[in-house]
Amino acid sequence: MTEARRQIRVNGKKTAPPHELWEASSHNYLMHIMNETGGDGRMIRDEVLHPSMLKHLGSVSGKKVFDAGCGDGIIGRELTKQGAQVIGGDFVFDFASVAHTGSPPLSTIVSDVARLPIADESFDKLVSNLVLMWAPDIENSVKEFARILKHGARAAISITHPMVNLGEFDSSDKNHPKLILSESLQEGTYLKMINQTNGPYLYYQRPPATYVNTFTKNGFKLVEGSGYEDVFFSDDFLKKHPQYIRHKMFPLFLILSFDKV
Ligand SMILES: C[S@@+](CC[C@H](N)C(=O)[O-])C[C@H]1O[C@@H](n2cnc3c(N)ncnc32)[C@H](O)[C@@H]1O
Repeated sequence: MTEARRQIRVNGKKTAPPHELWEASSHNYLMHIMNETGGDGRMIRDEVLHPSMLKHLGSVSGKKVFDAGCGDGIIGRELTKQGAQVIGGDFVFDFASVAHTGSPPLSTIVSDVARLPIADESFDKLVSNLVLMWAPDIENSVKEFARILKHGARAAISITHPMVNLGEFDSSDKNHPKLILSESLQEGTYLKMINQTNGPYLYYQRPPATYVNTFTKNGFKLVEGSGYEDVFFSDDFLKKHPQYIRHKMFPLFLILSFDKV
């Protein structure tokens, strides 16, 4: 049994395992993603997150890429359009099915990222977009990433920036939003909604060092000079979308890229 199927306690209360929580909310999650098309969340991905992720990943044309925690296949499809041969993996059957029937369709497997039914050294690249902060077993997930990648292969991962979860924003003064601290940057587990109907899911707060150290001790090196990016919103983006002014001060995403040693 993987950690994702094990019940845990949050603040002393028993909680359903991560896998059950994602399955229970899969319909609402898919509605949320579909509604994102044309909405703000989709726009942030198209204009901010995905271009940065693709830059970290480098050219994918003709490469075999594993999309770990593919969800509905949103980033795997972009890679397919750029000539990659993508296989998506997600532990929720409904997500893998939607990714498989999307356009262009992805080949998919239903699997926990901490235990992948994939042969050693099968892939040239790996992408994992907004997944690892939901995964309880980061150590075995990263070991699996190292195992399925070829020597020298690139892995690009993104997470919600751990700073975002330090508290609530007070944006009453639009130009000087404040963060009211209530949570810690130290490791902790929370039940978290993505929006009012989407969730709750188990969220694993970890400081950036935990991610970097877990990869570097399990067969990866950080890409020299550019492998760590706190993703702030650019001035050009904020001119078009001033409602996000807080992300001029607080990065919304953290992207890390590594090469397998
Ligand atoms: C926020 S979604 C991101 C989906 C997709 N990567 C994207 O860019 O839209 C998180 C995804 O991670 C998957 N996930 C979370 N923990 C997982 C695990 N341990 N193994 C496999 N998939 C997992 C969830 O089912 C969900 O599809």
